[in-house]
Amino acid sequence: MTATELKAEILRLTREYSNLVHAGNRPGDDPAHAPFTPGVSTVPYAGRVFTPDEVEAAVGSTLDFWLTLGPEGEAFEKELAGLLGVKHSLLVNSGSSANLVAFSALTTHKLPEHKRILPGDEVITVAAGFPTTVAPIIQQGAVPVFLDNDPATGNARMEQLEAAYVPGKTKAVMMAHTLGNPFDLGAALAFCKKYDLWLIEDNCDALGCTYSMPVEEAKSLGLDHLLKIAETGAHPFIRVEEGLLTAPTGSWGDISTQSFYPPHHLTMGEGGAVSIIRRPPLKTYAESFRDWGRDCWCPSGKDNTCNKRFGWQLGELPEGYDHKYIYSHLGYNLKPLDPQAAIGRQQLKKLPAFIEARKQNWETLRRGLADLEEFFQFSLPTHATGWSSPSTLNSQPSTYSWDSTGHRTDCSWFGFMLRVRPGSPFTHTALGRHLDEQKIGNRMLFGGNLLKQPVFVQLKKDRPNAIRTPLGSYPGADEIMNTALFLGTYPGLTPAMLDYEIETIRAFVKSF
Ligand SMILES: Cc1ncc(COP(=O)(O)O)c(C=O)c1O
Repeated sequence: MTATELKAEILRLTREYSNLVHAGNRPGDDPAHAPFTPGVSTVPYAGRVFTPDEVEAAVGSTLDFWLTLGPEGEAFEKELAGLLGVKHSLLVNSGSSANLVAFSALTTHKLPEHKRILPGDEVITVAAGFPTTVAPIIQQGAVPVFLDNDPATGNARMEQLEAAYVPGKTKAVMMAHTLGNPFDLGAALAFCKKYDLWLIEDNCDALGCTYSMPVEEAKSLGLDHLLKIAETGAHPFIRVEEGLLTAPTGSWGDISTQSFYPPHHLTMGEGGAVSIIRRPPLKTYAESFRDWGRDCWCPSGKDNTCNKRFGWQLGELPEGYDHKYIYSHLGYNLKPLDPQAAIGRQQLKKLPAFIEARKQNWETLRRGLADLEEFFQFSLPTHATGWSSPSTLNSQPSTYSWDSTGHRTDCSWFGFMLRVRPGSPFTHTALGRHLDEQKIGNRMLFGGNLLKQPVFVQLKKDRPNAIRTPLGSYPGADEIMNTALFLGTYPGLTPAMLDYEIETIRAFVKSF
């Protein structure tokens, strides 16, 4: 056999193997999905969803043995950037690394002085969420300033932005689109424009969400990068319809981040991405922090992209010192491997179906639990003021009422969050424990009020000025911490799993 024939045979056998052993990882609506036995099989809250395509891609790329970020990585970066409508996407090895790289890029001395984030500068964020949205701010010596969360959406209360602002100190807003619910981008963008601040969107839990705002407002906010793409009429997510500009979250601010850890909208095992939304030079800075802090921007395996490898004089190094080993930042090495990107490329093809499944699964849970409002408060998409369904059994879509901003959100849900009402005969912890016993995966909203986490309690003791809490108390974040639980919406859930979840919760509630 030739090498090509041998590879083809290995890949054929790989598919055959994957077909035999990975039935439980198939999309929930795939007839080949492993059967589900209520109470015996587990209903995960999230996990890898894949078919033999991903396994073949991983094995194929491993056989090629490029290993470090290479052709698959380059292709994935282009495909992701195209999907988001951003200038560049850079692969990293996790969503946490993506946040670290994104934030670090804004500390570079290559930015004009008034835009550079220096130690002691302030960055506005939100109290309840995932810790590594906030950690890079502190790791780089800047000060996170906390807003409270709106428990109904899980997102920051943007009306508090002005109270958090300090002229000359505030440099950026960095926060996540919580659980696949876009934060109020209109308010955040207007605030950042007013004070010339960076906006970093942690989009790790929200790939595939879209946000809409009136075109006139988008123009006044200077969102030309999106309006231009919308004008082409060729982008799957970025469009203008009935006077509204619609675009994915992660494409509105300055930099955005993704996670590709298994529970997220697409996976490559470990992985993440930093997207440079509209200012191309930020790519070079982000890349430098990702790649050891180097000044050189050659991709792995290439030399002399700048055509003057031995023609630079930087720092106090002698003229002609090898550009490959010139360092302009205190960097890291946060790259993933090429086989990961190969897996990610297959996942990207499935993304539209994954997004649709997440929406459908959320809808099924919402309808199935709709009459339990006495016990639970359910999440609302940002800008929605109410949810209604023609009938819980009807297949017609549910509808939302919307606030007066004219803005809309379309959620690619990471999870189905419910909050146990005060006065209910059970707590969210009791519900979580019961669901666990019934083999139903559930999670609290990550770190809850992060300010109550041991790391922040210790930080306040060790370095009281390392964080700022201008609001004093955080009742919204506390409510999330004390009452919220989320179930999965991931595309691996089958209709039988969703029915079992609904029945189990209904039976639990009725047992009191
Ligand atoms: C909002 C948010 N940001 C960042 C991360 C970190 O991603 P990773 O686990 O890939 O480091 C997570 C993880 O779930 C997250 O939920």
